[in-house]
Amino acid sequence: MDLDGARVLVAGASGVLGAAVARSLDGRGARLVLAGRDAARLRDVGPDAPALTFDALDLERCAAVVDEAADALGGLDVLVVAFGVAAFGPAEQEDDVVTEHLLTVNTMAPMAMARAALRRMETGGTVAVLSAILADHPTAGMAAYTASKAGLSAWLTAVRQEQRRRGVTVFDVRPPHIETGLADRAIVGTAPSMTAGATVDELTELVVDGIRDGRRELRYDLRERSFAGR
Ligand SMILES: NC(=O)c1ccc[n+]([C@@H]2O[C@H](COP(=O)([O-])OP(=O)(O)OC[C@H]3O[C@@H](n4cnc5c(N)ncnc54)[C@H](OP(=O)(O)O)[C@@H]3O)[C@@H](O)[C@H]2O)c1
Repeated sequence: MDLDGARVLVAGASGVLGAAVARSLDGRGARLVLAGRDAARLRDVGPDAPALTFDALDLERCAAVVDEAADALGGLDVLVVAFGVAAFGPAEQEDDVVTEHLLTVNTMAPMAMARAALRRMETGGTVAVLSAILADHPTAGMAAYTASKAGLSAWLTAVRQEQRRRGVTVFDVRPPHIETGLADRAIVGTAPSMTAGATVDELTELVVDGIRDGRRELRYDLRERSFAGR
């Protein structure tokens, strides 16, 4: 895809990875709409881009944001989903409220946005979603967080097959731990000590190049300590 002039919604653009991807896409000439919980912070990321607010716990609003972005841009070529939350601790200490929060924000909200985007991508496009390495490596002490990302990743795999004939690329990005502060903002529990597998800049370039090149997945090989994809 030619990123110059591409019509892009970045949902979660106030986050560290979302902001970095948005700035990189802006640098490559994409036309952006930024979405997040806080309009002022979205304006810091992209002063010239229209800002839309949503809370991922409100699934109807998630779908509406995509339609509003497509209306503002005169269509939609790319949706980037870069929002999410983490939670830590043994499963017996997690409760239904935490689990529902994780599954809503990390699984159902991206699904709601992706469905809305697919309906607007009549002549093709790209849905790029940050799931996580947890989808490939379920991890103790993060069972519900793992489930939320594995569920999202499995859904993306099925949708990718559905969309092949429509010309929509579904790009599942499954990063390793990256020092963004996400773990410190967990909705519950304390993160174990984790070694970063990549930097924000490294991941950002791979995501943006991946969108340009029509890639379908980006995963992290723990043994090789490097990214792989197709
Ligand atoms: N960093 C890592 O190690 C890592 C590894 C694998 C996958 N990921 C995934 O990458 C994505 C981005 O993470 P990050 O590292 O950039 O963390 P981050 O800086 O904390 O960004 C998280 C984003 O999610 C948004 N968010 C959280 N709850 C929300 C809600 N209820 N409604 C709307 N937005 C909400 C935050 O909004 P506010 O700014 O308003 O809080 C923020 O924009 C997440 O999906 C994460 O799971 C990260």
